[in-house]
Amino acid sequence: MTDNREASATHEVRPLIAGNWKMNGVKASLSEVMAIHDALSKGTNGTPATESVDIMICPPATLIMVMAEILAQSPIRVGAQDCHIAEKGAHTGDLSAELLADAGAEAIIVGHSERREDHAETDSIVRTKADAVHRAGLMAIVCIGETAGQREAGLTMDVVSRQLEKSVPENANAENCVIAYEPVWAIGTGLTPKPDEVGQIHHEIRNVLKERFAGEGDKFRILYGGSVKPSNATELMQVSNVNGALVGGASLKADDFLGIIKTYKT
Ligand code: PGA
Repeated sequence: MTDNREASATHEVRPLIAGNWKMNGVKASLSEVMAIHDALSKGTNGTPATESVDIMICPPATLIMVMAEILAQSPIRVGAQDCHIAEKGAHTGDLSAELLADAGAEAIIVGHSERREDHAETDSIVRTKADAVHRAGLMAIVCIGETAGQREAGLTMDVVSRQLEKSVPENANAENCVIAYEPVWAIGTGLTPKPDEVGQIHHEIRNVLKERFAGEGDKFRILYGGSVKPSNATELMQVSNVNGALVGGASLKADDFLGIIKTYKT
């Protein structure tokens, strides 16, 4: 399933642990962020985890500006969870990628399954949103993943390949785009695929990226997301072609998020 050559290629890709707070987090939650910042600056055994991994938190839009301000001197980056496709204009209640960049976001999650479901976002909308993220000079975190029904029907790779082809824009590269494989049935359920299953799917995702983007395809970060927590992070993050995690529930508490980040401590 996996071989050493693949494993070493994976290690050349700098991992990213991104926290997705979803519609959670109030001003008081910033103390969790400061606890993460303090723990990382102190490091453990003299080696801060941030030397080997990128860290990002995507809070609700209401907290982006203040979080970016308090983290200005920190290696922890701030991201957003969605954006409108347009740059500006008469779109009451919406936020453009440019506005989110102005608030301090460095990346934007697009195509999360909760948005695909709650807002009927199609692959083509997700791709247009990823284009908007790039227009604003930010990094897109493009989410893909199958539902329980699709998995049971044996359609996982069909779904994932289609989403990958149709949701990732043509100008994507390893700098401006991260892929997050998030099986819908694993999100918030406590269930995860077995590591060898994750390895197979990430291997296929890597192949699709290589077919489409040639050598650049080897450099994309492919995150796993869905019920990642400190107790399963080590096992999941060791899988070949898993270059980090998109973490929901466990990113809300400093201790849990740190437990996942420390997976990468050398
Ligand atoms: P979870 O969410 O870690 O709470 O399962 C992951 C996500 O939706 O990004």
